[in-house]
Amino acid sequence: MEVRPFGASGLDVPVIGLGTWAVFDLAPRREGRARSVVQTALGAGVRLVDTSPMYGRAEAVLARALDGVRDRALVATKIWTPSIEEGRRQLERQLALFAGRIELEQVHNLVAWREHLDWLEGERDSGRVGLIGATHWDAGAFDELERVMRSGRIQAVQVPYNPREREAERRILPLAQDLGIGVIAMRPFAEGGLLPGPGDEVLRALGVRSWAEALLKWTLSDPRVHVAIPASSSPAHALENARAGEPPWLDDEGRRLVERHVR
Ligand SMILES: NC(=O)c1ccc[n+]([C@@H]2O[C@H](COP(=O)([O-])OP(=O)(O)OC[C@H]3O[C@@H](n4cnc5c(N)ncnc54)[C@H](OP(=O)(O)O)[C@@H]3O)[C@@H](O)[C@H]2O)c1
Repeated sequence: MEVRPFGASGLDVPVIGLGTWAVFDLAPRREGRARSVVQTALGAGVRLVDTSPMYGRAEAVLARALDGVRDRALVATKIWTPSIEEGRRQLERQLALFAGRIELEQVHNLVAWREHLDWLEGERDSGRVGLIGATHWDAGAFDELERVMRSGRIQAVQVPYNPREREAERRILPLAQDLGIGVIAMRPFAEGGLLPGPGDEVLRALGVRSWAEALLKWTLSDPRVHVAIPASSSPAHALENARAGEPPWLDDEGRRLVERHVR
């Protein structure tokens, strides 16, 4: 799988990661599925896994799924609360779950970002947190996200980027490139809403095996994007997604063909 340097962070990250929203919020008797997804994804070269305290049981389910393979993953999780005290408690719980370190700690949906960055920078200096990032799912918050990026205090952003949600192209991707900030594309399938897609004739024209691959390649064909994080509850889908992380990427004509088939 292709590896891209993650902004100016010095980290090399394979271009496909793994999201956990909804699909890892599992009752204990169903956790085996999450473990199969994680094992399959890591086996296929995925390294970055993304979660949040907002995702119900997903954070803890992911941690258990990483049991024995924690060292092979870069854990990206989030602080999601207006309270500094609760934010610190979230970090302590995460450190207990993920063997004492979080490679990327993101401020989820920019909630109380100034307050959280103050103490998170201390955590980064002490080495318990690797990089600091910020996320938002709504383009209406991109003014604020830009302010956070320009503050010079974060090394990564996470925004939606797929053929239907392209607002990041106008300001976030160029700014991230200028500032050397790593970009994680969330929702590459628009929460599954872009699947299934057109049939074999289009796939052949694009040189891909599946519409999921076409969509991931659409996102990753923009070189300002470092990693896409499709979520899946299916080992077969996780494998298919991981395999989409190989060049060749789509040229302008291929990207336009994908866009024409997105309703
Ligand atoms: N920070 C934020 O505000 C925020 C917001 C949204 C998302 N995120 C992050 O971004 C991640 C991804 O976004 P998302 O979960 O919203 O949606 P997504 O990745 O765009 O779509 C997930 C859906 O696609 C399906 N899928 C995955 N691979 C497939 C394949 N190869 N073929 C067919 N179907 C496939 C999954 O179903 P199966 O289970 O059947 O595979 C699932 O229903 C999240 O999990 C989360 O980590 C962050």
